[in-house]
Amino acid sequence: MLVAKNLWRYYGSKVALRGMDLEVEAGSAYGFIGPNGAGKSTTLRILATVDQPEAGQVFIDGVDAQEEPAKVRPWLGFMPDPFHLYDELTVSRMLYMFAQLYGIPARERRARVSKVIELARIKQRVGQKCSTLSKGWRQRVLLARTLVHDPKVLLLDEPAAGLDPAARIEFREIVRNLRDMGKTIVVSSHILTELADFCDAVGIVEGGRMVVSGRIADVLDRLNPHDRLEIEVVGDPTTASILLGRLDEVDAVEATERGAVHLLSATLQGRATPELRSKVLRDLVQAGVQVSALQPKREDLEDLFLKVASQGSTEGGVRVETLRSLLKGGAA
Ligand SMILES: Nc1ncnc2c1ncn2[C@@H]1O[C@H](COP(=O)(O)OP(=O)(O)OP(=O)(O)O)[C@@H](O)[C@H]1O
Ligand SMILES: [Mg+2]
Repeated sequence: MLVAKNLWRYYGSKVALRGMDLEVEAGSAYGFIGPNGAGKSTTLRILATVDQPEAGQVFIDGVDAQEEPAKVRPWLGFMPDPFHLYDELTVSRMLYMFAQLYGIPARERRARVSKVIELARIKQRVGQKCSTLSKGWRQRVLLARTLVHDPKVLLLDEPAAGLDPAARIEFREIVRNLRDMGKTIVVSSHILTELADFCDAVGIVEGGRMVVSGRIADVLDRLNPHDRLEIEVVGDPTTASILLGRLDEVDAVEATERGAVHLLSATLQGRATPELRSKVLRDLVQAGVQVSALQPKREDLEDLFLKVASQGSTEGGVRVETLRSLLKGGAA
């Protein structure tokens, strides 16, 4: 549905995008994630056809957006960051005004406005002046305004920034519902965990480029390719350590004493598959090791972050500082 190829965008001598690629499937929710200054807003503006790249191409549903902007614009709903509201108007007046601006025929406007009020769940606030709305309501009103012309693609630039946890959850529910209606949605954020549970796919950007992109599970796999096996043995752990250390699938082994038992932690080259688990168990038992427990462990994002941060290296092509800010939600 959305394809951006090799986008370059300069601001004077400053490079905002350096070969940005992006691909979003129709009907999916895509999390566009990166630290401050990574190029998220610049990319979204270009996708929304309100900005032009110096090089590169954008296709919306197969149509070249730079060659035929007027054709693709009605398909796009863009919620920029920050976004202007008409403060002196009431919410419903403002929505009618936009319905008119988008050329929705007078007889259809009422139904359209009612529909977006329902979708953005803002019924309680329609009579209120925009200037009097709290941040959470304001974002929902802005979303309603983005939906007025019934776009099939939503480009939402940090829509949940500055919302409290309850407002964030509500906003996420609303966006999820829009996805379930079949809309294609791109949501940007600088916090990976904020988007991970409702996006079908994510792209992590850094320095104007895409560094990892794909289905959530695949991206997490790529960031975190090594499982561990935790094996509890009764008595002396030496035999077990040596045996494990000899296996091709094992990268490193650590043993710690836990009272009457020892806990061996084997970091694997890859996944702790059932085949590997049963092979390890069989080898240990055959060598006379008294195994009292064996379980696979996959590091969660937090463990991964700590590991990467302490190594000071990169993981899956993502810099430590980037991971840090994505996982903690702090500014980069
Ligand atoms: N109008 C502009 N003039 C000059 N530089 C700009 C302009 N807009 C963006 N930039 C620069 O381009 C780079 C990418 O900015 P962009 O706003 O796209 O990042 P972002 O990922 O949206 O960041 P944030 O999380 O802060 O919103 C940054 O280095 C920024 O300073
Ligand atoms: Mg931005």
